[in-house]
Amino acid sequence: SKVGILGIPFSKGQPKGGAEMGPEILRRAGLVSRIKRFDYQVVDHGDIEIESIPGDKPDGNVKNPRSVGRANKKISDKVASIVKSKELCLNLGGDHSIAIGSIHGHCRAEPGLVVVWVDAHADINTPLSSPSGNMHGMPLSLLVKELADRFSPVEGFDWCKPCIHVRDIVYIGLRDVDEGERWIIDQFGIPAYSMQEIDKMGIKEVMHHALKNLDPNGTRPIHLSFDVDGLDPTITPSTGTPVLGGLNIREGQYIMEELANTGRLSAIDIVEVNPLLGSEKDNMVTAETTISVIEKCFGSKRGGYYPASYVFP
Ligand code: ARG
Ligand code: MN
Ligand code: MN
Ligand code: MN
Repeated sequence: SKVGILGIPFSKGQPKGGAEMGPEILRRAGLVSRIKRFDYQVVDHGDIEIESIPGDKPDGNVKNPRSVGRANKKISDKVASIVKSKELCLNLGGDHSIAIGSIHGHCRAEPGLVVVWVDAHADINTPLSSPSGNMHGMPLSLLVKELADRFSPVEGFDWCKPCIHVRDIVYIGLRDVDEGERWIIDQFGIPAYSMQEIDKMGIKEVMHHALKNLDPNGTRPIHLSFDVDGLDPTITPSTGTPVLGGLNIREGQYIMEELANTGRLSAIDIVEVNPLLGSEKDNMVTAETTISVIEKCFGSKRGGYYPASYVFP
C-alpha cells in the first residue's frame, strides 16, 4: 500500500506566523524516512503552493476568508486526486483551517467517510458563534450539512458544499470548548470524549466506544484530523493554542494504533505545529512527539515489527 504525503504551508486560519513552517520541520525531523521503514511505499507530493490574496478584508467576523477559501479549494482538489489514486493521504499542516479542504476533497473520493477529530478544541464554531473570527476554529461548521442554514455563505467558499453529517464526527481529547460549540455537540448528539471521559473511562474504553459509536459495522473510511494541541503542551509545546491537561504520549500512541488496526484510515491531517513558538528544544520535542505518534498510523508497533519482506537470518 501507498502513502501520499502533502505539505500544506498555510497559516492564515489564525493570527500567529509560523504554522506554515509545519511541513518543513516535520520533514526535517525525519518523518518521511520514519514512515518508509514500514510496509508503505511513500509518494511525496511536495508542498502545495499557497497564493497570497492582498487586501483580504474580513467577511463579518471571519478573518482572511478569501485566503483560507482559495487555499482550501486547492487542497480539496489535491487530496481528492491523492485518495483517488489509492494512496493514504497524509496532510502536513498548516493550521487547522486546512481540514476544510482536506475533508472536502476526501469526501469527493470517499463519500461515506467518518471523521475522528483529536484536539483540545472542537473547531465547530460558525462564523456567528466564533469568539475569535479565526477560521482554524470553524472548519467543521463549513463541512456539516446541519449547520448550513445557521450562517450566510462565507466569501471565498462558493466552491465548498457541506459533505458530512454532524453524526459522522467523533471528538477525542476536548478540554477547551466554546459555548456555541457545546450547544452544537448537545443539540446534535455528536459523540465527544473530552479529557474528563478519558480520565473516567481510560483510553481503551474511549477508543472502543468512539469507533463503535461512529461506525457500528466498521466499514467506513476514516479521516483522522489530528491537532497536535490535543496532546499535552509538555510534549507538544510549539503550537499556537496550547491547553493544559492534554493526552499523554501513550494515550496518543494508543489512539493511533487502534485507528491503524481498523485498516480503514484513508486520510490524515497533522496540524498546528508552529516552530516559531517556544525554544529550539521545544521545537525538537514537538516534532519528535508528533512523529512518534503519527508513525503508529503506519504500522509502527510498540511491541515490535518486521516488514512483510523480512527474512529471518
Ligand atoms: N475555540 C477557539 C476559536 O474558535 C480556539 C480554536 C483553536 N483551534 C485550533 N485549531 N487550534 O477561536
Ligand atoms: Mn486545537
Ligand atoms: Mn464499555
Ligand atoms: Mn484544531
